[in-house]
Amino acid sequence: MITRRGRSVSIVCSLCLFCIVVVFMVSGHFCGQMSFLGLDWELQKTKVTPYDDQDPPLRSGGFSTGFSSNQSGHHMIRKKAKLSREQKLEQGLARARYSIRRSAASKLKLSAATLLNGDDFVPSGVIYRNPSAFYQSHKEMVKRFRVWAYKEGEPPIFHYGPMRDIYSIEGHLIDELESEKSKFLAREPEEANAFFLPVSVVNIIQYVYRPYFNYSRERLQNVVKDYIHTISEKYPYWKRSSGADHFMVSCHDWAPEVSANDPELFKHFIRVLCNANTSEGFQITRDVSLPEVHLRDKNLDIPRFGQPPNKRSIFAFFAGGDHGEVRKILFRHWKNKDIDIQVYEYLPKTTNYSKLMGESKFCLCPSGWEVASPRVVESIHAGCVPVIISDNYVLPFSDVLDWSRFSVHIPIAKIPEMKKILQAISEEEYLAKQKQVIQVQRHFALNRPAKPYDLIHMVLHSVWLRRLNIRLPL
Ligand SMILES: *[C@@H]1O[C@H](CO)[C@@H](O)[C@H](O)[C@H]1NC(C)=O
Ligand SMILES: *[C@@H]1O[C@H](CO)[C@@H](O)[C@H](O)[C@H]1NC(C)=O
Ligand SMILES: *[C@@H]1O[C@H](CO)[C@@H](O)[C@H](O)[C@H]1NC(C)=O
Ligand SMILES: *[C@@H]1O[C@H](CO)[C@@H](O)[C@H](O)[C@H]1NC(C)=O
Repeated sequence: MITRRGRSVSIVCSLCLFCIVVVFMVSGHFCGQMSFLGLDWELQKTKVTPYDDQDPPLRSGGFSTGFSSNQSGHHMIRKKAKLSREQKLEQGLARARYSIRRSAASKLKLSAATLLNGDDFVPSGVIYRNPSAFYQSHKEMVKRFRVWAYKEGEPPIFHYGPMRDIYSIEGHLIDELESEKSKFLAREPEEANAFFLPVSVVNIIQYVYRPYFNYSRERLQNVVKDYIHTISEKYPYWKRSSGADHFMVSCHDWAPEVSANDPELFKHFIRVLCNANTSEGFQITRDVSLPEVHLRDKNLDIPRFGQPPNKRSIFAFFAGGDHGEVRKILFRHWKNKDIDIQVYEYLPKTTNYSKLMGESKFCLCPSGWEVASPRVVESIHAGCVPVIISDNYVLPFSDVLDWSRFSVHIPIAKIPEMKKILQAISEEEYLAKQKQVIQVQRHFALNRPAKPYDLIHMVLHSVWLRRLNIRLPL
C-alpha cells in the first residue's frame, strides 16, 4: 500500500483533547485551564496582533477597532471616516467576536422563538459545549466569512481531489470551496477574510510520485512550498498575516508532513487534517481536525440502517484490516475471543457491514495507519455509540461538540479492559449517549452544496473560529 503508512504506536495518552480553544476564548469559561497565553505569545512574535479579549461593546454609528486605542480623538475620527476595505473586514470580525462573546456569556436558552426568526435549526442540548455561542458564531460565519480560493495551479494537483473512497472529503471540500454555489466563495480577494490553497495531497502522491521510486516527502513539500512562494510574490495576503489567515485541507496520512521541513514558514498556517495526531505537530489552537468520510460510490449518503436501542443485539462490533499497531493490539486481545466483543478482520462475504453497525450498541473505531477512522462517521450515522480507541487524536469539531456525551474514549493501553469499561456503562447512560448520537448526525451529513450545520459547515466553522483568533495588523 502506497497511500497508507505503517507506524509504531506511542502508548502515551494525551489528555484534554476535547478541550478547545477558540470558543473558550470567546466564552471564557469552558475550560479554565486551557492556556491562551501560549497562543498570544506566539502570535506577538510575528506581525500578527493577538486577539484581545477587551473589544469594547460596539455602538451603532461607529465602533472602536481596538487597533489604535491610545491615539488622539481627532486622529481616530479621521481614521473612521476613511476605513480601507481591509479595515472594514476586520471591523466585521470584531463585531462578530463581540456578539459571540455576548451570546456565550448570556447562556440564553435557544427556543422555538429563535426558530420563528427563520432558522430551520438551532443547536440545543448537552452535545454542545455552549449552544448559544455556537448558534451566534455559525450565524456570524454565514454572514461574514468569505474565502478566496487561489486560482493559480493546474489540475489534477490543484483544484481537484478525490471524490470517492476514504479520502473523498478532501476532494469534496476543494470542490465546494471553489464552487460558484458556495455561500462562502469570495468573488475577489479583497472581499475575503480567509484564503484557501486548493492543493490536493492525495493527487500529489498519486501523480507526482508515479512511478514510485521512493517515498521521500521532499517532492510533496516542494510542491506546496513552491505554491506558497508563487502566491506570496503575486499577492500581499500571505505576507500580511504570515499565513495565519490561510488554510489547506487534506485527508491523506502524509498531509501533516507538508510543513515538516520548514516549521517557520508554516508556523501560523491553518492545516485542516484527517490525520490530527498531536504527537506529529497537530496544534489544536491552529489546526483543524477533519472527519474521514468513506464514500463508496457517487452517492453522498452515508448508510443509516440504525435500529432502535432495544433491537441492537450485538454489544460491540468491529470489522477492518490489520492496519497499524493499534489494530494489532485489538486483534490480539479480541479477535474471535468473546461473543460480546465481535471483532472481525474480514467479514464473511454474506454479511452486510452497514447493517451490522446498525444492529450494534457500540462500534469500535480504532486508529489504523493514522489516527482518524471513517468508522467514526459511519457509527454516528448508524446510531451506534462510537468507541474511539486512540491516543493523541483530536476529534473533529471539538470546539463545539462535547464528545464525551455521545462517544466513549478508550486509550490504547486500556484495550485489554475494553469489555469491563463498556459494561460499566449503565443502561441509562447508554440510552442517553445513543440519543445524543442521533442528535449529532446532522453535523456529520455531507451535502453538496453544503447546508447549514452540516459537515462542510462544521469544517468551515472550525476554520472561522481560528480566523477569529487572529487580528491583522492594519
Ligand atoms: C501609545 O502607543 C505607543 C505606540 O503605539 C506606545 O509607545 C505608548 O506607550 C502608548 N501610550 C499609552 C498611554 O498607552
Ligand atoms: C527520491 O526520489 C527523488 C526523485 O527521483 C530524488 O530526487 C531523491 O533524491 C530521492 N530521495 C531519496 C532519499 O532517495
Ligand atoms: C445492507 O442492508 C441494508 C438494510 O437491510 C440494505 O438496505 C442494503 O441494501 C444492504 N447492502 C448490501 C450491500 O447488501
Ligand atoms: C501519532 O504520532 C506518533 C508520533 O509520530 C506515532 O508514533 C503514532 O503511531 C501516531 N498514531 C497513529 C495512529 O498513527
